[in-house]
Formats: sequence, C-alpha cells, structure tokens
Amino acid sequence: MKFGVIGHPIDHSLSPIMHSANFEALGRDDQYHALNVPPQHFQRIREIIKEQELNGFNITIPHKESIIPYLDEISPSAQYIGAVNTVLVKDDKWIGYNTDGIGFVKGLIDKHGPIDEKNILVLGAGGASKGIVSEMIKFTNHKITVANRSVNRFDNWQLEIKAMSLTEVKPLIHTFDMIINTTPVGMNEKSSELIIPIEKISEKALVCDIIYIPNKTPLLQACEREGLLIYNGLDMFVYQGAESFEIWTGQEANIEVMKNRVKDELK
Ligand code: ATR
Repeated sequence: MKFGVIGHPIDHSLSPIMHSANFEALGRDDQYHALNVPPQHFQRIREIIKEQELNGFNITIPHKESIIPYLDEISPSAQYIGAVNTVLVKDDKWIGYNTDGIGFVKGLIDKHGPIDEKNILVLGAGGASKGIVSEMIKFTNHKITVANRSVNRFDNWQLEIKAMSLTEVKPLIHTFDMIINTTPVGMNEKSSELIIPIEKISEKALVCDIIYIPNKTPLLQACEREGLLIYNGLDMFVYQGAESFEIWTGQEANIEVMKNRVKDELK
C-alpha cells in the first residue's frame, strides 16, 4: 500500500522514516513519502493524491483545516476539533480523522500510568488543546481544568470542563498533578517567558509540552531544574502515527520500533 504526509514545509518530517520502520518490523511492503504541497496548490489536492495512488495520508501544517472541504466523510472527533491529520482513501472516498489527541493520551498513559485520579490542567484552548482534552476526558474521573488567555475561546467547546483564564488559574497552580502546555509560550527557544509561575507547581506534578523539537523546551528545562518530572511530545508524535496506521490498515503498529527509530534520528 502507499501512504504519505502532505504539508508545507515538509522536508524535515520524521513521519517517512518512522512509518517505514514500522512497515519493515511488520514485514509489510508498504511505502510512505513526504509530499510538499504549498497552500497555492492545495486546491489540486484530490488530483495530487490520485496521481500518487495513495491509500491514506497524514495532513500537517498548514493544511489540517483546509483539507476538510475536500473530504467525503469526517469522524465526529475530527469534526468537533475542526482539524484533520489523517485521511483514509477508500474506493475513492476520503474519510478524515484526527489522531493527535488520542495519540497524546495513549502515549501519556503508557509512559506514566493511569490518569483516572489525576487533577489535570491544560494550558491553551486552540485546536491541539481541544483534541487532547476531548480524548483525555474519557480517561479521567475528575473535571479537567483548561486555562486560556482569552476565555471567549471556550464558546463552542460544550465539554464538561472547568474553563478559566490564565490569570484565574495562577493561584491554583499548586493543586494540579499534571500540567500540559499546548500554547507556544515557553516552547520558543528564543523567548525566556514562561506561561505559569513554575515555583508554584506541586513537587509531585508532571509537566508536559506537546512538541519534541527541541527535546526540552525552555519550560521543560526550567521545570527539570526545579526537580519536576517532565514529558515532551515525542510519544504524541509516535502514537498519532500508530493510530493513523491502524486506521489505514486495521493492523496494530509496532510502537516500540517507531519510537526507537525517531529517537535514533534525533540523537
Ligand atoms: P494549536 O492548533 O497549536 O492549538 P491555535 O489553535 O492557534 O494552535 O491555538 C494556540 C493557543 O495558544 C491558543 O490557546 C492561544 O491563546 P488565545 O486563544 O488567547 O489566542 C495560545 N497562545 C498563543 N500565544 C499565546 C501567548 N503569547 N500567551 C498565551 N497564550 C497564547
């Protein structure tokens, strides 16, 4: 079968090597390539995919939202999030999914154990946060707190969460067992700004950033210096890919092989 990832820019994508390692481990004769499609050519996306004869593909920045009008069907969770990262091509019909949120949650639970009793704070209320929170809610008995700079971002959430502003959450920081940053603040290597006062974080807390390049963002570095447990987005990347593979093939991916291949590449 043939798969790919569509984005712009896409040269540095680790998806091809990660998926190829999985195909090899499972003895599959599949291919996976990166396709650079700039926004001005995106209206040709149906032709491009047809020419490439892909059976499924991933969609990344900047096309996760622009793909939606080209789909024949969309999963309820991708519809809810408003973004698609996986398309299954079935008899010329395109079905869109979003595996980012479930990828984060499965990776987190596999690495750090069940989250049923955790008091969780998610920072940010954009697409990434919405995907993670809407999946994480299924695995925890407690209401998740989501804090965002602007509270009008919650208008269309319709989830059982505690929504508040970043200002309102600051005095509560010490109460959380897990803090997940989905905003760019504290991820940017050029900025020393941190999104929350890290000296207020509980010493038992796990602090997560959802990117993995750099391996340790300024936020994670600062938290590590304070002796806190940190977790980056590498597992999220691997597990979202594994979920996509399972949607395309119905077969379970070899997550360990995928993870090791990506880690090797990043060394
Ligand atoms: P993504 O798909 O990565 O989630 P997004 O939908 O653009 O991207 O969302 C970005 C998130 O980062 C939002 O929650 C945004 O807050 P606002 O809704 O108030 O814009 C948050 N964000 C971006 N820059 C920020 C900053 N300087 N301070 C605080 N939050 C910020």
